[in-house]
Amino acid sequence: MDDAAPPVHPNNRLNQLAGNEWLYFTKSVLQTSYPAAYGHDLRRQHGANKPPQLMAHIIEFFTKPGGTVLDPFAGVGGTLIGATTVGRVATGIELNPRWVEVYRQVCRREGLAEQETIIGDCLEVLQRLLAAGCQYDLIATDPPYSIALAKTLSGDRYAAEFSNRRTDFDTFGDDPRDFRNLETFEQYYEAMGQMAEKAYPLLRRGGYLVLIIRDSYQNGEYVMASYEISQRVRAAGFVMKGIKIWYGTGARVRPYGYPYAYVPNIIHQNLLIFQR
Ligand SMILES: C[S@@+](CC[C@H](N)C(=O)[O-])C[C@H]1O[C@@H](n2cnc3c(N)ncnc32)[C@H](O)[C@@H]1O
Repeated sequence: MDDAAPPVHPNNRLNQLAGNEWLYFTKSVLQTSYPAAYGHDLRRQHGANKPPQLMAHIIEFFTKPGGTVLDPFAGVGGTLIGATTVGRVATGIELNPRWVEVYRQVCRREGLAEQETIIGDCLEVLQRLLAAGCQYDLIATDPPYSIALAKTLSGDRYAAEFSNRRTDFDTFGDDPRDFRNLETFEQYYEAMGQMAEKAYPLLRRGGYLVLIIRDSYQNGEYVMASYEISQRVRAAGFVMKGIKIWYGTGARVRPYGYPYAYVPNIIHQNLLIFQR
């Protein structure tokens, strides 16, 4: 029996995937139930950590082995760990030193090679990386979702009843440079646009930017942050290539509008895919 890996097309300059793996990734919906791994017990202190397996899936499609990845909002390192597991080189920027320390602790305990981390405001650090002549094959990141998500996920009236969904969002700092602390949605979209402008020249020509954006429901209205942000990112020069809806199974539903009105349980996130 031939147990060799399926062949990679000789003209494939993007990744190291065989045809069937490539096609699987292009489906516009992804449903996962990843096991808690890679120090999840530590990483879960960060209420918005992402599965390294999800990030590895994205990284494997948009880079070749040994390729370079940048995450401007690195948190406790979902992207960095994902990159390590598939043999890519990553740099993470994170404002809050607490999250970088958790990432390092995870690496030490799990025996994972540590990727480069830079503590600071991504708007300022991206500028510095550009001045230093850095370039990346992929920028993959999961920015703060919106200015007001804290109210939605923690400290709300369902928090006690659904304590398994409680997060540590309340422990996030009040640093004014944190996108989450911006006062209005407009300011938040504006900051995301600035991030995209600064990221653009750091990406190699033809390279991809993947943003994980969660829409929200605020003050009785659906806030389609994914649309607003994609418009800003397009204005920065990127071409929008698609959306992949990610549903990590296990998200609990809450009886928000019941029994009076329709209020969505937003259990998916949007992987917005752009190209330079
Ligand atoms: C949704 S979390 C990212 C979580 C990450 N994907 C993980 O797996 O842990 C967004 C992160 O952006 C950070 N952040 C917010 N504003 C920032 C800024 N201006 N520069 C750099 N990081 C920032 C927050 O501290 C937070 O950790």
